[in-house]
Amino acid sequence: MSDKIKLAVLGSGKGSNLVSLAKACANGSLPAEIVLVASDVADAGILERAAEYGLPAKFIDPGKFRTKLDEAAETAYVTALNESGAEWVALAGFMRILKGDFLRAFEKKVVNIHPSLLPAFPGLEAWKQAHDYGVKATGCTVHMVDHGIDTGTILAQGVVPVLDEDTPTTLHHRIQQEEHTLYPRTLARLFNGEIRI
Ligand code: GRF
Repeated sequence: MSDKIKLAVLGSGKGSNLVSLAKACANGSLPAEIVLVASDVADAGILERAAEYGLPAKFIDPGKFRTKLDEAAETAYVTALNESGAEWVALAGFMRILKGDFLRAFEKKVVNIHPSLLPAFPGLEAWKQAHDYGVKATGCTVHMVDHGIDTGTILAQGVVPVLDEDTPTTLHHRIQQEEHTLYPRTLARLFNGEIRI
């Protein structure tokens, strides 16, 4: 039997963090196996990236709401994750708030990566918020997911300087580069028992 952690990845976007996690699983630096990639967006890049890496991938209809899953959708997500055997869930740009039954089903087993140094700039387009505010450093945060928006226990952070010539786009690009090392490295430390929550 494999002693690798069974990991599911949920995302709504282009899937660059999924790629960094898949590569880390493949080269052995992340002791995990991605058992399911699920998206609430039927044509999301993350589903195409999953297919390229030979990972099981699924669009799961999010239901009638715009920012959360409705009850039936929440059940569908939990069922699919359970069927995949997932023990941990990594959010990678999943644009919906997870609540109630989902968090109870995966209690203290859901992590997220956010593109700012929390608690600064929670919510949408955090890199733009940081740029507009004029901070001189920002970065990314890996944190546990709880009922709030970007409020769970912080596991690790990576700092990215804001350069005078930065636009929101160039800043976002450098934050994402930092994410691609921070996320796999932090999950590896978590799964190896090096981080206590
Ligand atoms: C990342 O920047 C992450 O911080 C945020 O959503 C973005 C997802 O990007 N939560 P990608 O789909 O992994 O490229």
